[in-house]
Amino acid sequence: MTEKRENWGSRFGFLMAAAGSAVGLGNIWRFPYLTGMNGGAAFIFIYLGCVALIGLCIMTAEFAVGRRSGLAAVGAYKKVSDKWTFAGALGVLSGFFIMGFYPVVGGWAMAYIAKSFTGLLAAPEAIGDAFGAFITAPVEPLVWMVIYLVINVLIVAKGIQSGIEAAGKVMMPMLYVILAAIIFRTASLPGASEGFKFLFTPDFSKVTGQTFLAALGQAFFSLSLGMGCMITYGSYLNKEEKLPQNALIVTTMDTSVALLAAVAIFPALASFGVEPTAGPGLVFVVVPQIFAQMGGVVGPIFSALFFLLLFIAALTSSVSLLEVVVAYLIDQHRMERKKAVYITSAIMAVMCVLSSLSMGVMSGVQIFGVGFFDFFDILTDKIFLAIGGGLLAICVGFFMKKEDLKDELTNGGTISFPAFELWYNLTKYVIPVVIAWIAFAGITAIAQKGLMIFGVLVIVVLAVFSKKL
Ligand code: PFF
Repeated sequence: MTEKRENWGSRFGFLMAAAGSAVGLGNIWRFPYLTGMNGGAAFIFIYLGCVALIGLCIMTAEFAVGRRSGLAAVGAYKKVSDKWTFAGALGVLSGFFIMGFYPVVGGWAMAYIAKSFTGLLAAPEAIGDAFGAFITAPVEPLVWMVIYLVINVLIVAKGIQSGIEAAGKVMMPMLYVILAAIIFRTASLPGASEGFKFLFTPDFSKVTGQTFLAALGQAFFSLSLGMGCMITYGSYLNKEEKLPQNALIVTTMDTSVALLAAVAIFPALASFGVEPTAGPGLVFVVVPQIFAQMGGVVGPIFSALFFLLLFIAALTSSVSLLEVVVAYLIDQHRMERKKAVYITSAIMAVMCVLSSLSMGVMSGVQIFGVGFFDFFDILTDKIFLAIGGGLLAICVGFFMKKEDLKDELTNGGTISFPAFELWYNLTKYVIPVVIAWIAFAGITAIAQKGLMIFGVLVIVVLAVFSKKL
């Protein structure tokens, strides 16, 4: 290897990058619509339980594994034992698959920044149809997706400090400011209180095994866990950083943005009498309607700001997804960074073309009953990430030395981590069981059984053939 392995330049920089990875489409695009589709407050409670019990522990574990090994996902697992390589490989594959649809939505966000000024808001009643027409068109979304992907390439090609870290430091503070401005506006709309009621009064009668799986998958997706992303980011951390504390900060930042996004959107839904169960189109259809009502020049500006928020959130996450694959190629195959970025993103671009077209001209092409977009989405979010997280918990709990973990989490005994025993026992005994239970309950309740079986088979195949990776 010619390049020396880089580290983060500062604590703030790392936190912005890690929180940047966590805060993404998962928080602003997906969390609100999942909440809407799964009955509101009940889903939020289950989600928060998954975050507090499982997410926080797994993030702490990923940071520890990453920094201890100083390697990205595959290398880090390999250090524990050759037999574990497949778990890292599963992570890299998840990164690929998520990047098979994520830039498509990132491109939609970019397009909507522009569209906010070019007549989107002029006909509020046509916004829903306009969104449908836009995403099913063959060319326009592809152009935006490519622009979006190129921006990712430019950032990741620059490396850790001057690429990913620099981008996070500028964009994450911006994101909070924009979000605050939008909440300020929507919370004061007439009728907003209905939305708050939906968000905070749970109706547990809507809860099924699927609700739990959706909440668990969302927790992993939103916190960037279960695919080695935080292992990779942890591998660039210096030895002075306090891992448990950083995990707590990143988890809190991520969860607060998800809740704030819901608080920004649901009151407005109620105010305009829009059903909260709108699905993936929710923010693209509802949010412009909110701002259309504001009229004048303020409406378009707020609308553009919202989609800028979505774009920024998406970008700092997709660079981390790309980095997971790139770091693997650098660490395990001694590939030069730029080359790794170009090759990886070229493959991702092809997958994104399929996903984007699956919204329209290729909607008839189905794998296991779903189009490409849903295929990549469901496979990662509902299977790979949760299983990846479960594997990590088992690997850490049963295959790593407890003293080593304690040493890593207390910086060689120089700082205290009073909750170590709790963390260790939760990670080793409770989390694998809870994940297995939720996965089982969810998978038996889900419609796409073929897809689930396919996902599990992929993991088995990886386990058999991963030695060479
Ligand atoms: N956490 C990101 C989001 O909420 O949009 C998505 C993501 C990034 C998932 C990185 C997984 C990952 F490793």
